[in-house]
Amino acid sequence: MGVAGLTLFNPAELLARDSILRMPEPTVAGPGKKIDIGACKSVKMTCVSEVGWHSNEKLVANVNAGGGFNANQWQVPWDNSNAGGSCSLMEVEALDGKRSKILIDVGWNQDYMKQRFAQTGVDKKIASGEIEALFLTHEHVDHLFALQTVLELRRDIPIYIPATFRPEAYQFMAGTDFPAAGAKNAITHTGPLIRLKAGGANPIMPGVAAVTFDLPIILQTEGEQSLYANVRDKGLVAITGCGHQTLPRIIDFATENLTAATKFHGLYGGLHLAPFGPLAPPQEAVIREMGKYGFERIACNHCTGLPAVELMIALGYPIVRGTGSNGSISDLYIGNGDSVTFG
Ligand SMILES: [Fe+2]
Ligand SMILES: [Fe+2]
Repeated sequence: MGVAGLTLFNPAELLARDSILRMPEPTVAGPGKKIDIGACKSVKMTCVSEVGWHSNEKLVANVNAGGGFNANQWQVPWDNSNAGGSCSLMEVEALDGKRSKILIDVGWNQDYMKQRFAQTGVDKKIASGEIEALFLTHEHVDHLFALQTVLELRRDIPIYIPATFRPEAYQFMAGTDFPAAGAKNAITHTGPLIRLKAGGANPIMPGVAAVTFDLPIILQTEGEQSLYANVRDKGLVAITGCGHQTLPRIIDFATENLTAATKFHGLYGGLHLAPFGPLAPPQEAVIREMGKYGFERIACNHCTGLPAVELMIALGYPIVRGTGSNGSISDLYIGNGDSVTFG
């Protein structure tokens, strides 16, 4: 049964399976000594899909039917026809010109994600190994439930996960269905599983580090990991899944821990500011404050929410526009099939 032992989800059992499981210790900043993650030449982000779901009203109705935002996402009766998914392709060019590709999250609805993978050529890149690894930011439905679509193409793809994943996510990766939530994965993941702990920076490749933030998140999930890339002559680029840890916390970690945080160049991904519709006052305050970070290119999408992006544009922030194609909700930001290059 391959890695079926993962279904035991006992940490000691997990550690014993070191053929597939790796738990590197994060690099921790010391007193007066920050972490040098190195540098890369450029980072290209392609939005495979940023449309997490199609209707906010249907999503919220599903959540309420399952018991509200404190319910367990693996038991909520999700309407699969409303499901889309969040997924991006990161392409890093090293200082020596070598290019590395990592897929960030896998989306939600399998049929929808198959279309998105085909349109962006991601399917062939997964199957051929050109995409070297899968980086799962967090467990949420719209980032994880289409895992089978990736495993059908390559079941031994290395997967980076935050060490905060809850038991159901391990069961799911090992090939377990959750029928109540419509989550189906018939394929056991057989490749390296790299659990990244909170408390420091986890180097992924020269110039790129992952950081796990341990926090409780809505729908009974735990923790989210983000990526930081230090682009030579440009500055730091932060890459998020949903950004549940909040933008100020992403900035604060870098400022306190990374030598490269002298300049923030770029931002990509979900910022969870207006994910379900209107913008609330606390999130509006975050937007009005974020100008002080000095980002030169902001490519936020997904759960950032259209009202949040519209306010950023009104405030004169350097928002990278998209094409509004392939099912994207708006051309005001980087959407499905659009790319942005930092560096
Ligand atoms: Fe999301
Ligand atoms: Fe999320």
